Amino acid sequence: MSGRTPAGPVVTDTHGRPLRDLRISVTDRCNFRCRYCMPRELFGPGFEFLPSSEILSFEEITRLTRIFVAEGVRKIRLTGGEPLLRRELPTLVAMLAAIPNVDLTLTTNGSLLEQQAAPLAAAGLRRVTVSLDALDEDLFQAMTDAGFPVAKVLAGIDAAAAAGLRPLKVNAVVRRGMNDAAILPLARYFKGSGHVLRFIEYMDVGHTNGWCLDEVVPAAEIIERIDAELPLEPLEPNYRGEVAARYRYRDGSGEIGVIASVTRPFCDDCTRARLSADGKLYTCLFASIGTDLRQPLRGGADDALLSRIVRRTWNAREDRYSAIRSSQTADPSRIEMSYIGG
Ligand code: GTP
Ligand code: 5AD
Ligand code: SF4
Ligand code: SF4
Repeated sequence: MSGRTPAGPVVTDTHGRPLRDLRISVTDRCNFRCRYCMPRELFGPGFEFLPSSEILSFEEITRLTRIFVAEGVRKIRLTGGEPLLRRELPTLVAMLAAIPNVDLTLTTNGSLLEQQAAPLAAAGLRRVTVSLDALDEDLFQAMTDAGFPVAKVLAGIDAAAAAGLRPLKVNAVVRRGMNDAAILPLARYFKGSGHVLRFIEYMDVGHTNGWCLDEVVPAAEIIERIDAELPLEPLEPNYRGEVAARYRYRDGSGEIGVIASVTRPFCDDCTRARLSADGKLYTCLFASIGTDLRQPLRGGADDALLSRIVRRTWNAREDRYSAIRSSQTADPSRIEMSYIGG
């Protein structure tokens, strides 16, 4: 497995974009309650998460993944909710790692990584991305609202690196007036660590977070703030369609990235499909309707039929949400990030 893209089938959408990435949500649950994603008052005790009968089994996920890979997918990312809450996750990782020609990775909040990094690496996981929006304990608590000490996440990052899950990426969502004071401390902490810190512009994903444009700190401003103290220079993308714009520290002590989904949308090169925990295929992070794959899967469809459904769905894809975003964005039917996965 190399992650390099061998020639293979190309299924394209209405804008000529190939299907190359699959982000698989393995659970809609999370042990954090980040204000911008699962605010506690909405995702509290009364909230109905998916019942286990509706969640795809490991065998079902693996079968669908093989079909997507046959259609051209080369990168698989496990997400949630919080994927490490899914029981026996290393078993799924081992099943997916056995599929040739795919780059297999995972996005986690890091809270359970200290215990799970080694078994995940042993099962064949190659790298991880950890979400971390602040280093200061009070700020971290205000962002995640779950009582987990930030030290647990930092220990998880260290355990992942020690287990060989490198290069490790750290994603920080920046929300003006909430955690923009965390930008420089995060940059200082990870500079020279070998990990790649990426700042993400706060997006209007879902509809429960009450997003407004004033809360977005533009990527250009994030770079300016860091560059003023820790001089930076731009780097070329690693590959076409990379979501993060890359920069390196001029003193050679590493690289950082910014994900400017609001100020510089990257829909033109978007090759990402998303599979929800209950088996719906979404062709955009901002979609409201998905294509149900679970029903045909459980109804006895053969691989050829499932492939046809995937191909037809991708062929019909028109999504360019971020590129055409308007200032009014609160669509109540839009699905939540905790359900579809980051
Ligand atoms: P690697 O290159 O494999 O490290 O992955 P990546 O750069 O795609 O990064 P990752 O999957 O960690 O995505 C980082 C963040 O970018 C996500 O958490 C989202 O906030 C944002 N993002 C990723 N994909 C999309 C997308 O398709 N649309 C939008 N609008 N945002 C995205
Ligand atoms: N805007 C930007 N990023 C978000 N994430 C969750 N909600 C948002 C949002 N509204 C990020 C998480 C994590 C990844 C899975 O998605 O912080 O890094
Ligand atoms: Fe926070 Fe990620 Fe959990 Fe959402 S899924 S509440 S962003 S840790
Ligand atoms: Fe892709 Fe939709 Fe994100 Fe645009 S908004 S980059 S089409 S997922």
